[in-house]
Amino acid sequence: MPLDPTPVPDELRGLRIALLVSGGIAAYKVVDLASALTQAGTEVRVAMTPTATRFVGAATFEGVTGHPAVTGLFSGGDSPEPHVALGDWAQLILVAPATANVVGKMAGGRSDDIVTATLLAARCPVVVAPAMNDAMWSKQAVQDNLATLRRRGVTVVEPESGHLASGHSGAGRLAGAQGLFNAMVHAVRARYDLAGRRVVVTAGGTREPIDPVRFISNYSSGKMGFALAAAAADRGARVTLVSAASHPAHHGVEVQHVDTAEEMLAELRSQLRGADLLLMAAAVGDFRPARIARHKIRREETASLNLQLESIPDIVASLAGDEALAGVFRVGFAAEDSDLDSKGVEKLKRKGLHAIVANDISRRDIGFGSDYNAGVLLFADGSRHELEKATKREMADRILDLVLPRLPH
Ligand code: C5P
Repeated sequence: MPLDPTPVPDELRGLRIALLVSGGIAAYKVVDLASALTQAGTEVRVAMTPTATRFVGAATFEGVTGHPAVTGLFSGGDSPEPHVALGDWAQLILVAPATANVVGKMAGGRSDDIVTATLLAARCPVVVAPAMNDAMWSKQAVQDNLATLRRRGVTVVEPESGHLASGHSGAGRLAGAQGLFNAMVHAVRARYDLAGRRVVVTAGGTREPIDPVRFISNYSSGKMGFALAAAAADRGARVTLVSAASHPAHHGVEVQHVDTAEEMLAELRSQLRGADLLLMAAAVGDFRPARIARHKIRREETASLNLQLESIPDIVASLAGDEALAGVFRVGFAAEDSDLDSKGVEKLKRKGLHAIVANDISRRDIGFGSDYNAGVLLFADGSRHELEKATKREMADRILDLVLPRLPH
């Protein structure tokens, strides 16, 4: 009997879900599940253990999801790294049915097929739906392995009792669609606390041209902005990164490349409509050449060069004055070499920000170019949070933890 027809919950729509199928008779039931999820607007990619393909053909899953099911460690289509590609891509993993064998391999950290390799490479929540014969289900070894998985944060959907393929009656039937969806939603809610939010992040040091081949810029690497964008995307937000730096973009992050402060402001004006949060991590230049030479300035033609610079208007301050963007919560970043708190508070007020992260650039172990950062997060209401030294990614998550409760609903 196929899975009961249950509507797909809204929380699962639009997610990238990896469905990992192992070799039990219940594999035929998850074909319906893959179909329902796909029709509801989720992106479903399937990977199967070799044994699973004895129960259901990979072509069946390809038919219902529109994407080839991966069946081996070396059959990942055009991916150079099929053993990690799917785990990297997924925002949620459902292992269904999970055999005693796969549960045991997960507990033991094995990765000798595409399903277990994907699980080890994954960074997203994992839901496991065991299905097996009742004697296998009741074995202490299986229960111990499941307890290990639960302790590590995996959501286990208990099988149901009833008629089993072996002819017995007992516990071991794959949970129904409602139980699977509930567990998936629970796992998603716990991890994706920014689902439904639009977040815009800026990164890198802006570049102001002197002539067609030269520019003025600063030492900002863009790493903090990229870490913020990655963290927000991993927590379910729709993220646009307006960047003057070039790094490989994280899954789910849309990058708009800009060079100058003026381009950044124009891009932000269009991106921020309907956004919830602006994280202004870019090091925007303070001065730019008052005139840009149309042709390359030649050394032969000028013994010395005087550049006349003009100041660059403050981007966040001008966004703060834009009524159409009043609903956007604005967080600025300030690189300071002393008096973090007082300078931070002064900038927060002057720039019309809701919060500011002040970080200490006098320390050589953090900040510009480094993978680490530290500082203090100050809110407009006067509250203050120390941000201990951490990787930029860890600090990004900490900032989001503190900002999220303050976002308007
Ligand atoms: O004044 P300072 O450059 O230290 O301020 C840093 C903060 O202000 C950052 O969030 C930066 O992105 C923003 N900023 C801006 N426009 C500028 C200069 C800085 O939005 N022209």
